[in-house]
Order: sequence, then structure tokens, then C-alpha cells
Amino acid sequence: MNISKDRIVLLSLLCLLNPLFCTGQIAKIKIFPDSLKARVSPSLHGIFFEEISHGGEGGLYAELIQNRGFEDSQLPQGCMLDSGWLVPPRTPHYSLQPTVSDWKMEWKVKNDYPAWSLLKKDGAEADIFLSDEKPLTPASPHSLKVVVGSPGKGVSLVNEGFWGINVVKGETYKLSFYIRTNKSYKGPFVATLETEDREILASHTFNENANYEWKKFECNLQATGSYAKARLCLSFQNKGEIWVDFVSLFPSKTFKNRPNGMRVDLAEYLQGLKPAFVRWPGGCYVEGINVQSAPDWKRTIGRLEDRPGTYSPWGYWSSDGFGYHEFLQFCEDIGAKALYVFNCGVSCDYRSGTFVPDDSVGPYIQSALDAIEYAIGSVESHWGALRAKNGHPAPFPLHYVEVGNEQVGKQYGERFNMFYKAIKEKFPEVEVIASMGIAHINKATTEAIKKMDIADEHTYKSIYWPMVYHDWYDKYPRKDYGIYIGEYSCNGGVGKGNMMAALNDAASVLMYERNSDLITMTSYAPLLENVNSPHWEVNLIKFNSSNSFARISYYVIKMMNENRADVNLKSSVELLKEGKTQKVYSGKIGLSTWDTQAEFKDIQIIQDGVTVYKSDFVNNFQDWKTEKGKWEVSDSILSQKDEGAWPLAILNDKSYDTYVLKLKARKTGGYNAFMIPLALKDDKNYLRAHIGAWWNRVAGFELVSEGTDAMVSQPVNLKSPIETGKWYDIEIRVSNDKIECYLNGEFLMSYREPDKFFVLSGKDEKTGEIIVKAVNADESPMSSQIAIDGLDVSGRTGKAIILHANNPKAENSMDEPVKYVPREENFVIDGSSFNFEFKPYSVTILRIKPAGA
Ligand code: AHR
Repeated sequence: MNISKDRIVLLSLLCLLNPLFCTGQIAKIKIFPDSLKARVSPSLHGIFFEEISHGGEGGLYAELIQNRGFEDSQLPQGCMLDSGWLVPPRTPHYSLQPTVSDWKMEWKVKNDYPAWSLLKKDGAEADIFLSDEKPLTPASPHSLKVVVGSPGKGVSLVNEGFWGINVVKGETYKLSFYIRTNKSYKGPFVATLETEDREILASHTFNENANYEWKKFECNLQATGSYAKARLCLSFQNKGEIWVDFVSLFPSKTFKNRPNGMRVDLAEYLQGLKPAFVRWPGGCYVEGINVQSAPDWKRTIGRLEDRPGTYSPWGYWSSDGFGYHEFLQFCEDIGAKALYVFNCGVSCDYRSGTFVPDDSVGPYIQSALDAIEYAIGSVESHWGALRAKNGHPAPFPLHYVEVGNEQVGKQYGERFNMFYKAIKEKFPEVEVIASMGIAHINKATTEAIKKMDIADEHTYKSIYWPMVYHDWYDKYPRKDYGIYIGEYSCNGGVGKGNMMAALNDAASVLMYERNSDLITMTSYAPLLENVNSPHWEVNLIKFNSSNSFARISYYVIKMMNENRADVNLKSSVELLKEGKTQKVYSGKIGLSTWDTQAEFKDIQIIQDGVTVYKSDFVNNFQDWKTEKGKWEVSDSILSQKDEGAWPLAILNDKSYDTYVLKLKARKTGGYNAFMIPLALKDDKNYLRAHIGAWWNRVAGFELVSEGTDAMVSQPVNLKSPIETGKWYDIEIRVSNDKIECYLNGEFLMSYREPDKFFVLSGKDEKTGEIIVKAVNADESPMSSQIAIDGLDVSGRTGKAIILHANNPKAENSMDEPVKYVPREENFVIDGSSFNFEFKPYSVTILRIKPAGA
């Protein structure tokens, strides 16, 4: 969008004369096309698939039957059930050795045959039982036994699919299942797709007889009607005993029409991102809730009936229909390199943390070598030959492997060395990635690792983190390995992932692209969410049985990747700040705790050296409004005596903007320590200093927005944990756009209102275009004056790709899936430097082709 030169001149003058009169924002952007900065890694943007929130099972994997093999009520390997809890083996925890974790998880399976039920019409007598007689295969040892005493007007075995089966008029569905019967069952059975009201959408009658041995039945069901929450019914019309197993239903249209393939809309979303690579299959999924139940790629290849499935730590079984071979095939189909993550003999640190000792890690190393051989070994090799037998003689595009997920520390580093050596000896071309825990580069790990190709750090951050710490990676030392941000997202303080999340993600991407000499790969996480069963708050692509939509962050990543420069260019941005950014922390103050009982006294507010408030709880407790918690006054002390989260007392008299707040606080019980709310707009919107969070050990600033909280600063370790019964002096200095916090007279932490405008420029070497990427997370537009040093662009037409919303809480939805997507427009460049207005809450990419390029 062009803005007039006069407006820029006027705004500049006003801002220079007096920032308080300034009504707009101005950025003077200068780009230096001859000053090359980091090259941008062609593999920078990839994707990370994990079996979480039914992303695969009931999601990307197009199978429509839930619990097709009747194995979903089985406990994961090595676990037992105790009063509704799944309890893993009580052996030592990897990071806490010799301690044994007492972690357990709720077992939500409530009957023997989840997703299946029996429907009986008038006069019918029938029942179903899980059976282990005469298994179909060792991997599918259970079947469902249907005993029909009297068929009455009908007995139907019903599968509800994954929160419904999407049936579309005119489409064909491939049904297959196995049946065996005893001698007494005669007669046909009927397969139907039906609505919940038993309206038939598709039907097929099998007249062939079943018999004592397992027999496979197959048909195509042609839909005559549409219904998103349909179900599959297998109906029996005679009395007898029938065993049913491995019931499978696929839409005949799958991505690239592959049998056992992927759901088209979801696969197309993934393909649309043009990912350089796919990381698979996790995540915590790789680690398992205990070592015995962790995934093993060899169990995920070959005939579907021979795959026993894997228990996802997110609380459900994967059939492994989307197995290792399908993953490699999918990578090839979307033109991405494969990144396979394998278990290294350690289960999830946040779950049981059980592990195999270092001297038993040999089979894990061998399994990794075999997996690589399966993907890229010659057809003469053992595993390469199996790949060929499974239909793919040519090597798959496996390029990377990762040793474990989120393992960390010295012992892991040493274990990694064993894997690295063995893999590099046999497959020097494969890049080997080390995990780094659920945070940034880990010192103990990197010190123990002799050599790695890439380190994978995970950065889930709250609102504003990528803006406050925008120079985070600029400061990283450059070493002989690249960094892979294997899991990133802004997922705190941004609802379920709104426009503000997308703006923060965009700021992260700019930070990654700018540092692409160091950061060679990234992938957003989690990728997919079946809205009927989310296990994580903020996910990139959402779907139900029939619909899907991508969040705004998806479009940010897409537009960033589609407009990835080959090389970054030096650029400078001069911001002429406007008056309204002054005094950003005005509001009320308060006192609060979290799962903690505490006392507060001697509260003072000092403005310009004058004490404007002094607590006197005995005489003036009416100054305070208690929102939640059990607040009691005794002498000069205000005590919070309740358990639980969110107790809050607000000093209700007035707002403060710049001031010093002094108080004394003492913990009397509970888990954490003190929280001091500031800049309170109301009881659901404020910033707070949390001193003694995470079991008294750290401090940080947290933003409470519409009643949900998120830590917005990097946590600071306290010198020593907050002690119960001891008084602490807290001082908080609030200036125009900065807050400083002191504990017992010593500086503890600070928070500054972040810049909300970021620019990165680069060059497309093929087309010669200059690419300017800008994020404006502010509520006001950003008027800019852009000059490209030494290049004449006047008279040229530029292309602007703009993603914008009027409201930071805006989101795409099932009903309006493409409400917020990038839109393109042209703009005419009217001089050697030109003006452009970046919209509020926007991500913008400008492509400018200089004359002669
Ligand atoms: O993406 C969700 C989880 O976050 C992943 O499973 C794990 O690697 C990370 O902690």
C-alpha cells in the first residue's frame, strides 16, 4: 500500500519535534544489496509429524475405522492397570537415577472394544465379546465375537469411526474385513454406511458363506448420500457365532491415490508448505511412556494385519498403518527429505523415564542402522531387498536421523557418541541429529558429544518472547554443527493460536532466517489436531471427520518459505517512536500467589520520591478488593491462606503509571512463592512478577490475558530457593516501558516492552528480486520509507504479499477457513526511495525487481 510522501514528511516532523504529538509510527528502512549477510538454508522450513491429537490415526492416515484390529483395549507393553491408572514398570528414571519415577497415567479405555457397539432391533438377542480364540495373526491376537441368539429384526455391529465417518455422495469406499463362524451360522451378512438415524448411505450384501477358518471379505461401497458423522454397520441375519477382525474402510480417493494412503485435504496442506523435510514419528511418541512400549520401525512395515500397533504417550493406540514405509513414501510424494527419529533406549523424561543401560544399547544401534538400510540401502542388502519387496526398489529420500527425542545430559551425550560412530561408519552421507531436551542448546550434552552434525533444540514460547528476545540466536556461538529448531511455536497467551500467535511465529521465522548460517532447519509443532481429541493447546492444522482449516501461523510459514531469499542483505531500520508507547505499564497493583500461602506487609508506592500509598490493613483494608483466595488481616500483615491457583487482592484506589513498589513477603506454605500483579486492567488482564515459581526456584514475568497466564520472560534462576517462614524484601521499579525487580536489595530481573516491528531483507538470486519481510505486531500501521542503496527501483512495480487482521485475537475456523490468508497486490515505486504502509497486525513480504535484474 502506498502512502503519500507528504504524510511521511509530516509524521517525521511531528515525531522529531515532540514525540508526544506523534500520531503514527515511522520506520526508515535502508537496504544494502551489496552487503551480503547469511545465506538462507534451503532446508530451513520443514514439518514435524507426531502421533498426537489423532494427527495420524483418525487424521492424516486415511483409515476410517477406529480400532480396526480390536486391539485398542490392550495395555501397552510392560504396563499394568491399578485402579484406573496405567502404571509403567518401576525401574529407575534416566535423568533422576537411581530414583524411580512414580508417574502414572489415567487409563481412559472403558470397555473391551472401544469405538464398537452392538445395535439390536426388535426381538433380537445378541451380545459381543472380545475374543482371543484362534487369532487372525500374532500381531492381531484379538477379534470380536458376535453371538446372535435370535436375529429379530436385525443385529448390527457398529463402528463409529473417528468421531464419525465422512461419507460423501458419489464417492466410493473400500471395505475389507475378516470373518470366521461356527457351524451354526448360515446366511448372508450386510455392510452398510448409515447415518445415526439409520438412514442407509451405501450398502453391500455378502452372499458368500463364511466358515470355520478366517476369510477375507471385500467390497466397494458407493455412497448415495452425504453425512459427516456416518458409521459402519455389519449386520447379521441369522443366529450363530461370528468372529470379526481387521475391519478396514478407506476412501477410494487418497493422496496420490496410494492404497493405504493419506487423507487428501490434510496431505495437501502439508504439501502446500513445500517442506524441505519431514521429521517423523515424534516427539514424545518416539520415547514412549516406558522403554518396552516405545515404537519399533520393524513392527510398522509389511502387511497391515502383521503390525501390532504402538501405544502413543498421548493416550491412544496407533495402528501403525502410517508406518515407516508409508512415511518414506509420503516424503517422496511431497518432494521432502525424510528425517527419521528413533528411540535410543530411553523413554520420556516427563513420563516413566525408564531406560536400558548403556551396555544394552547395541540392539538400538542395530535397529537404527537397519532402518537406514531399509530406506537407502541397495536392493542387494537385507533391508534394501525388503524395501524392494514392499514395492520400492529405488532408495527413499532419507537424509537425516535423530537419536532420541528431548534426551539431554552427559549420559545421553555419551550414548549419542555410540550411535554417531556406528551410523557414520556405515552411512557417512546421513546427517545425524542430537536432541537437546525441551529447551535451548544444553551445555552438559554438547560437552559430552564428540561430534554431531546438527543439534535439535525445542522452543515453545509465550506471547512476545520472539520479540523481546529477537536477538537470541545472534548471540549464539557458531560451532561445527548446525542448529535445528525441531519444535517451535508461540503457544502461551495467544488463545488457541490466534493472529498474535502468528505474528510471534513470524517474528521467530525472521529470527531463524536471519541466523540461517547457524539455524539450518526448523519445524513448527504440533502439526495436526483432530478437534475431537486435542492433546495440546495450540496446533497448526485442525480438522474433524469432514473439514479442516489451517491456522494463520500456517500461512505465515507458507509465505515465508515461498519467499525464502537465497541470501540475506544488510538492512537498517530506524524507528521514530510515537508518544503513545510511553507509560505502557499503567494500571493497578495487586498481590497474588499460586498453590501457595503467603503473607505481605509494608507495601509502599513511591512516585517521584513521594510515598503515595502505604499499607495500613487494620484501618484501611477497604482499599483492597479480594477477588479470589482466603485473605485475612492480622496487625500489619495481609495473609493469603487458601490453596490453589489465582488468589488475587487488588489495591483498588487508583492506577499508577511510573512508580516504585516496595513490600515485604513471607511464604507460609505451599509449592511456589510470591506473585506481584502490575499494570492491572482487571482481574483477568495484567502482568505479574512471579518470584519463586517452579517450586521456589525461578523468577519471571508472566502475562495474564483474558484469565490465562504465560511466562513472557526468560526464567531467571534464584540464587537460592525461596524459604518458608523467611521475610523477603521486594522492590519493583516501573518506568515508561521497563520494569525492574529487586529481591533483598539485589537486581533480579527486568522486562521491557518489546519492539513490535521487525524487518529482514534478502535477495532471490535467480530473479534478482529484493525481498523485504516485515512483521508489524502493533495495533497501529507502520509508515515506512524504504531506500535500496545504489539500486534504481523508481518506476518499477513491486509485489506485496500481505497477511493482516484487524484484531490480534482473530483466527481462521472451520466455518471461515480462509478468512485470514495472504493476499497479493502490486504497488508502484515512485522514486529511488519509496513509501509503504505496513498494516497493523500484519506480516508483509515485498518483492522488488530492480531495473535490469
Ligand atoms: O509437540 C508436542 C511435544 O512437545 C512433543 O512430543 C515433545 O517432543 C515436546 O515436548
